[in-house]
Amino acid sequence: MGTFGFESTAEEVTADLDLSGKTYVVTGCNSGIGLETARVLALRGAHVIGTARTEQKAREAVGERGTALECELSDPPSVRRCAAALRAFERPLDAIICNAGIMALPSPQPKFGLDLQLLTNHIGHFLLVTEAMDRLAPDGRVVMVSSGAHFMAPESGIEFDNLSGEKDYSPFKQYGQSKLANVLFAKELARRWATTRRTANALHPGVIRTNLGRHAREQVDGFLQTARTKTIPQGAATQCLVATRPEVATTTGEYFSDCRIAPTSPLAQSAELAARLWERSEQIAAELPRA
Ligand SMILES: NC(=O)c1ccc[n+]([C@@H]2O[C@H](COP(=O)([O-])OP(=O)(O)OC[C@H]3O[C@@H](n4cnc5c(N)ncnc54)[C@H](OP(=O)(O)O)[C@@H]3O)[C@@H](O)[C@H]2O)c1
Repeated sequence: MGTFGFESTAEEVTADLDLSGKTYVVTGCNSGIGLETARVLALRGAHVIGTARTEQKAREAVGERGTALECELSDPPSVRRCAAALRAFERPLDAIICNAGIMALPSPQPKFGLDLQLLTNHIGHFLLVTEAMDRLAPDGRVVMVSSGAHFMAPESGIEFDNLSGEKDYSPFKQYGQSKLANVLFAKELARRWATTRRTANALHPGVIRTNLGRHAREQVDGFLQTARTKTIPQGAATQCLVATRPEVATTTGEYFSDCRIAPTSPLAQSAELAARLWERSEQIAAELPRA
């Protein structure tokens, strides 16, 4: 495992693994690094449950051999239906890879009183994982696809008094907050699972040219010209590694980048903030529509 790094691809990090008999959930399976993750896990023999905004998009991505589910993360009833389908799935889930995400919406678009990036990237996945986790295998893994952008979260980390994002809106601050929430969610899950064999980790996949930049094309293109970028196969490597490699089967509460453990922002290390976010997310989830 020590040999994997920045340039490793998803195929390379899984090359020696036989994943037949394993089941992986990949959210946002129809585009970018989620599509590559789903492809490579299936290539290694795994059963992939791919989720997308519509069942048709998921079906086109996973083909006839995978399971396709609708999971529109900003629509709580859709997420709950997906979680129910996962709970009823015939086999235990070896990992849930929370990969779907949106970035840098130019203006606030609150839904249910929540910033759409926070709702999609964090709350939607919180709802999905907490409602489906009974079906996670005893040694199952939750993999949160976060971002180095979690360093761009606001000073307080999570703006509990501005969850709609309407006060002092900034597209990348709001994105950073949602990606910090991904790290804090993994951290708190890991704490809650400390006496179990289940694990929860977060990661930064790298900087990859995908559809993610569509809401801030000019700014993102400028950044892509200066950053050291990865290809999509390289971008999918870290999440494939964290979800499957036996060497990290007991690693939990960590943050990975370039296929290895990496430092987070100080805010992402706050157990207190992680616990507070969990509590608030539970309250929010309870108030969101069920149908
Ligand atoms: N690309 C990078 O440089 C980079 C860097 C750091 C972190 N990341 C993270 O990597 C993950 C994957 O991003 P990507 O680069 O592969 O971008 P992408 O190509 O835009 O893929 C994002 C996926 O998320 C889905 N999605 C967005 N909103 C959704 C919603 N409301 N409900 C359900 N699915 C939704 C998209 O579906 P549609 O196609 O239907 O919109 C798509 O399948 C994201 O979490 C992103 O934050 C990416």
